[in-house]
Amino acid sequence: MTPLDRLVRERIAIEGPIPYATVIELALYHPEHGFYSRGGVAGRRGDFLTSPEVGPLFGGLVAEALDREWDRCGRPDEFVMVDAGAGPGTLARSIGAAEPRCREALVHVAVERSEAQRAQHPDGIRSVGAMPTGPVTGLVFANELLDNLTFQPVLRVDGEWVDAVVEVRDGRLVTGPGPAAADGPDDGTDGFIAQRAAARWLDEALTVLERGRVIVVDYARTSGADVEVRTYRGHERGGDPLADLGSQDITVDVDLEQLARRIRRPDSVTTQAEWLQTLGVEALVDEGRDQWNAGAAGGGLDALLGRSRIREAEALCDPDGLGSFTVAQWVVG
Ligand SMILES: C[S@@+](CC[C@H](N)C(=O)[O-])C[C@H]1O[C@@H](n2cnc3c(N)ncnc32)[C@H](O)[C@@H]1O
Repeated sequence: MTPLDRLVRERIAIEGPIPYATVIELALYHPEHGFYSRGGVAGRRGDFLTSPEVGPLFGGLVAEALDREWDRCGRPDEFVMVDAGAGPGTLARSIGAAEPRCREALVHVAVERSEAQRAQHPDGIRSVGAMPTGPVTGLVFANELLDNLTFQPVLRVDGEWVDAVVEVRDGRLVTGPGPAAADGPDDGTDGFIAQRAAARWLDEALTVLERGRVIVVDYARTSGADVEVRTYRGHERGGDPLADLGSQDITVDVDLEQLARRIRRPDSVTTQAEWLQTLGVEALVDEGRDQWNAGAAGGGLDALLGRSRIREAEALCDPDGLGSFTVAQWVVG
């Protein structure tokens, strides 16, 4: 039993059943025992490999997206990149290294709620624990953030929607019916996952922007019916989300239809592979291949960087992996 399992059981013994979303919040973000506070990290040696952690290519292409949006906004003197759920700041490092055209105007704000992750952010950026208040002109970018925000399963009991709670039964933490839910679709389903925190985040992101674009890259679905809760531990699928609280990552696919219903429909939805193609990944790979072909025999640094770029592009565009991620964009102004 983890320290957090004990803590949640003690709380249930005193208060009675706890809302499911509260337990997920504790499991991921309890200041001492939560998965992310304990150092659950993205990276090659971490618990999962995200696109920015594959290598510098992803950040280079996000830098291109920044330049295009800066152009669309009329090249303002100040252009803000809100890097939401920034993790250890790897994306900021890659964007800096790519030297986008907008660099003189660029203010990179890395928003990360974990203090341990913020401590790793590079110099030269603004590192903060919560979304800035706008209005700003710029890009709000969230890679694999929304699937890590808390969610609330909603169940249909005797024809009524109720929020799920967590209770103790036969010595285990299990899901049970709780108080009446604020919302529920009228489509004959028995239950769904309410993504109220993701909706609040999107609302906030759109409000921060006077002009610009919100880009969300994540596991996503356009219909909530088959959204499932998944857990990950050390690059492998984990177990029951209510077991060993704090020891595994807990995620759900982002339900874009629900975000559309609650806040706003995205202006465009593509896969990550398609998005990276529009940003010119193929030209960069061709350049890498030329570098590798020119210097492979000598094994020089340029040649190795060229080969590495080819491999990164394969991983980022893999139709069975990161390439299948959804990129949803909302344009403001
Ligand atoms: C799966 S990681 C992704 C990190 C990074 N974007 C990447 O792609 O490598 C999600 C990060 O979001 C952070 N996070 C979760 N909720 C947050 C919030 N409301 N505001 C800011 N950061 C948050 C977590 O602490 C974690 O570092």
